[in-house]
Amino acid sequence: MTDRATRQRDPDMKRRARHQFDAWAQRYDRSLLNHFLFEPSYLVLMEEIARWHAEHGRTSRVLDVGSGTGTFAGLVAESAHPARIIGLDYAANMCVRASAKSRDSAESRRPAFVNGDSEHLPFADGSFDLITCANSFHHYPHQQEVVVEMKRVLAPGGRLIIIDGFRDCVIGWFVFDVVIDHIEKNVHHVPWTAMHAYFEAAGFRDIRRRKFNFWFPAFATIADRE
Ligand SMILES: C[S@@+](CC[C@H](N)C(=O)[O-])C[C@H]1O[C@@H](n2cnc3c(N)ncnc32)[C@H](O)[C@@H]1O
Repeated sequence: MTDRATRQRDPDMKRRARHQFDAWAQRYDRSLLNHFLFEPSYLVLMEEIARWHAEHGRTSRVLDVGSGTGTFAGLVAESAHPARIIGLDYAANMCVRASAKSRDSAESRRPAFVNGDSEHLPFADGSFDLITCANSFHHYPHQQEVVVEMKRVLAPGGRLIIIDGFRDCVIGWFVFDVVIDHIEKNVHHVPWTAMHAYFEAAGFRDIRRRKFNFWFPAFATIADRE
């Protein structure tokens, strides 16, 4: 059986993703794909971070999973929000590039970058108030386990925001399931109902979905930990 569910379990997915992004790290910020597909999600994440700060009014500890070259982490660190952010990425070269980009920032505003796997987050239980994850989830072979692991490192009352391509419409299906799947190979963009089910099974409450459309359709799933 070689259907989507089976490919999702392929352990080779992680190795391929690391190889692909290690090779892409130096050119990633100049790529059109990055500009059209990924950058719009930073705006949505920044709005969600602003919302969290408006609700809680204190310094947040933020983890960005699959942080790539650290552009989003840099935006958060430089923003007016009192946030301390760590980016984590499986491709060591993406972390090297991210660290180099933030080298000139003031130490108090400099994000930290950690080379690691979303399935095994190297942090103690309850370490973060916010976890963000944009345009990375479709590379994970064990997606349910990752959501459970994210919940583990969230503090009580913490918030998880995952953004990925929206493949539940004709354009999204063509872009993500046909074109991106053909280019990247071995990726798995989940229907929004499956994402919702992952959050529910992990025990999140108040799960909401936010669909947005800049150049291509994408959706954010947002929920809080009890
Ligand atoms: C398309 S990039 C997105 C980067 C960034 N979030 C953005 O929106 O620009 C996907 C990133 O996910 C990372 N990644 C893939 N599998 C991962 C895993 N198992 N754990 C952590 N990061 C992973 C890749 O190395 C890559 O940097």
